[in-house]
Amino acid sequence: MTDLTESVSIEHDGTVAVITINNPPVNALSHHVRQGILDGMTTAAADDSVTAIVLICDGRTFIAGADITEFSQAPKPPSLAGAQSAMEDCTKPVVAAVHGTALGGGLEVAMCAHYRVSDEGARFGLPEVKLGLLPGAGGTQRLPRVTGPAKALEMMTSGDMIGSEEALDCGLVDEIVDDLRSGAVAFANKVVEEGRPLSRIRDRDDKLNVDPSLFDDFRKKIARKTRGFLAPEYNIRCIEAAVSLDFDAGVSRERELFEELMSGTQSSAQQYYFFAEREAAKVPDVPKDTPKLPVASVGVLGGGTMGGGISMNFANVGIPVTMVEQTQEALDRGLAVIRGNYERSAKNGRITSDDVETRMGLITGSLDQGDFAEKDMIIEAVFEDLDLKKKIFAEFDRICKPGAILASNTSALDINQIAAATSRPESVIGTHFFSPANVMKLLEVVRGEQTSDEVIATTMALSKQIAKIPVLVGVCHGFVGNRMLFMRRLEADKLVLEGATPAQVDKVIYDFGFPMGPFAMSDLAGLDIGWKEEESTGSTVREIMCESGRRGQKNGRGYYTYDPETRASTPDPEVEQMLRDFGSKQGIEQRDITDQEVLERCLYPMINEGAKILEEGIALRGSDIDVVWINGYGWPVYTGGPMFWADTVGLDEVVSKIKDYSSKLDGEHWQLSPLLERVAADGGKLQSTTGG
Ligand code: 3HC
Ligand code: NAI
Repeated sequence: MTDLTESVSIEHDGTVAVITINNPPVNALSHHVRQGILDGMTTAAADDSVTAIVLICDGRTFIAGADITEFSQAPKPPSLAGAQSAMEDCTKPVVAAVHGTALGGGLEVAMCAHYRVSDEGARFGLPEVKLGLLPGAGGTQRLPRVTGPAKALEMMTSGDMIGSEEALDCGLVDEIVDDLRSGAVAFANKVVEEGRPLSRIRDRDDKLNVDPSLFDDFRKKIARKTRGFLAPEYNIRCIEAAVSLDFDAGVSRERELFEELMSGTQSSAQQYYFFAEREAAKVPDVPKDTPKLPVASVGVLGGGTMGGGISMNFANVGIPVTMVEQTQEALDRGLAVIRGNYERSAKNGRITSDDVETRMGLITGSLDQGDFAEKDMIIEAVFEDLDLKKKIFAEFDRICKPGAILASNTSALDINQIAAATSRPESVIGTHFFSPANVMKLLEVVRGEQTSDEVIATTMALSKQIAKIPVLVGVCHGFVGNRMLFMRRLEADKLVLEGATPAQVDKVIYDFGFPMGPFAMSDLAGLDIGWKEEESTGSTVREIMCESGRRGQKNGRGYYTYDPETRASTPDPEVEQMLRDFGSKQGIEQRDITDQEVLERCLYPMINEGAKILEEGIALRGSDIDVVWINGYGWPVYTGGPMFWADTVGLDEVVSKIKDYSSKLDGEHWQLSPLLERVAADGGKLQSTTGG
C-alpha cells in the first residue's frame, strides 16, 4: 500500500487499483482527500498494469460531504472539480464503493465514477439544503440525469437520504454487494471483462424530457414547509437548468446560485446551527468516558398529553415501557391516544401495521407504581404541581431499585426541591420534553445541584438513542426555553392593550419565520390551562378571555374564532374591542403600533433574558440557547436562533433599543443584562459566549 497523502492511499488487488480514503470521523473532502483522489487517479491511469480503479473509504462511512470547517477558510487547492474530472475523464473504468452515507460532495464524487456499488446499509443524499446551500460540485446537474428531475427535486429540497434498494431502483447504484471491498473489485473486473462503456452521467439526457409544469407544481407542494428558506428554491432552479441547458452551462448556473447562497446569512446561520447542535451534546465537566448506566427498561408516571408521547419515544427504539396512571379510565384513554398516533403514522406510510403492534406490545399499562421497582429509569409526567411531584419522588425513592434514574418532565419547577424529597438526589434529573413529545426533537436535560455525572452522561446519550436533540440546562423557573418564552408573552400581552391586535402580533412573529404567533399558540394550547373560574377576578388578559367563555381552539373561540369544519381562524373584532377597552380602563393610551415595534418588543426581551441565562450559567453556551429555540419552539433555523440573530442585527443596536424601551416600559425583563452590555462593548458575539 502506498500513501498518496495523509488520508489517501493506493494498492493493487490483481489488476484493480484500490484507492482508499481514511479521513476520520466522516471522510469529509478535506484538501488532502481531494489531492489524494486526484493523485490516485493520475497514478492508476498511468500504470499499465492497472485495468480498473475502485474508490473506497475506511471507517464508518463513505465521504459524507465537503469539509464544512473549510467553508470559512481561504480555498485550498486542488478544487473538488479537478478531482472529479480526473475520475470522470479517466480512460479506465472507475467504480465507487459506498458504505455508510454518501452525502453532499461525497455523492457528487460517487456520481463522477463510471459505476457505483454499495453494501446493503448504504444511504445516499444531497443534504446541502439543510446547510442553506445547494450541491455545488455538479450534483444538481448529475442527480436529475440519473434519477430524473422529479426524484431529484424531492431529494435535493428535503436533503433526505435514500437507502440502497431505492438507489438501485432509480439507477444511482449499479449493484448491491455483500462484502464491499471484494464485491467492488469483482464488479470492476466484470466491467473490464465485459468491455462495458466508461459511462459518464454528464453525457446522459434520457430522463430529462419532462413537462415543465412539474416545477411549479412542486413549488406549490413544498411552499408551506419551506416558507422563508432560500435554498430549496435555488435547488429547484438548478434542476430547471439541468433540463433546459447543456451540462456545462448548467454547472455554471449552479456555481452562480451556489455563490449567492454561500455569501448570504441563511447559509451561515444553517452551517452555524449544524455545529451548534453537535456542540450541545458535549458537557465540558462531564468527561466523554464517564460510565453510562444501562437503560433497558423505563417507567413513565402519567399517561396524559406528555406521558403518552414520552412512552412512544422509547417503544419506537425497542425499549419496553410501563406507563402508570391513577385510574383505569385515564390509562385506557392514554393507551388509546398512543395507538391512534401509531395508526395514523401507519396510514401515512411512515411505519408498517406490524410496527404498530410491535410498539404497542412494548408499552404496558398499569395502575401500580410498584411496577417501577426494577426499572432502570422512571420519568414522571403528572400535573405541574410541586407538592404532588415531591410526594411522588419520595414514593419513587421508596419503590425504585438503587441506581435507577429518577426523572421529572416538569416544564418549570425546581428540580433541586424535587430531588430533595428523595434520599438520592444524585439520581434525580429533569427531562423536559416538548409537546407533542413523540414529535418534537428538543429535550432540555435539567441538571440539579447534585445530579451525578453518570446520570447526566446516560441521559444525554439516551436522548440521542430516542432521536432527540439534548441540551443540558441548569435549574431556574422555566429553564432556558420557557423562561425566554415568558418574556415574549409579557410583551405580547401588553402590546394588545396598547392598540396592537392579536392578529397583528401573530403576523409579525409568523412573518419572522415562527410556525405561529403567541396568540394562535395560546388558542392551540387552551386558554383555560391553570385557570380557575372561582378565583378569576377579570384582572388579566387571560382572565377576561376565559370569563367571556373563550377557551381557545377546543371550543372554537379564543383570540380568534375557528371554523368548526376546517379549523381555519378568523380575527375576532369582539376580542379586539374587549382588549382595547380593558387597556383603556387601565389608563393605557391607545395608539398605532408599528410592526417593527412589535418585533423588537417581542424578541429583544428574549435576547436580554438569554444573556441573563448565560450569565447565571443556566445554559453552557450561547449556541445551546439557539439549539433550544430552533428545536423546541420553531425559531427559524435560517436566522440561526435568538443569539445568532442578535449578533446579526448587531449587539450595539440591540443594547441601545433595550435601553430605550426600558426608559418607557415597566418590567424587570427590560433591565439590561450586564453580560449583554459587556459582550456588545467588547465587540463580541452572544453565539460564542459561554455560560457562567
Ligand atoms: N465536515 C466537517 N465535519 C463534519 C462533517 C462535514 N461534512 N460532517 C460531520 N462532521 C463532524 C461533526 O461535526 C462531528 O464532529 P465532532 O465529533 O467533533 O462533534 C463528527 O463529524 C461526527 O458527526 P456526527 O456527530 O453528526 O455523526 P453521526 O454519525 O451522527 O452522523 C453524518 C454522520 C450523517 C455524516 C452527519 O455528520 C452529517 O449529516 N454530516 C453532514 C453531511 C453534509 O451536510 N454533507 C454535505 C456537506 S456540504 C457539501 O458537501 C457541499 C458540496 O456540495 C460541495
Ligand atoms: P396531563 O394533564 O395531560 O397529564 C397528566 C396525567 O398524569 C393525567 O392523565 C393524570 O391522570 C396523571 N396523574 C396525575 N397524578 C398521578 C399519579 N399520582 N399517578 C399516576 N398518574 C397521575 O398533563 P401533561 O400536559 O401531560 O403534563 C404533564 C407534565 O409535563 C407537567 O409537569 C407539565 O408541566 C409537563 N409538560 C407539559 C407540556 C405540555 O405542553 N403539555 C410540555 C412540557 C412539559
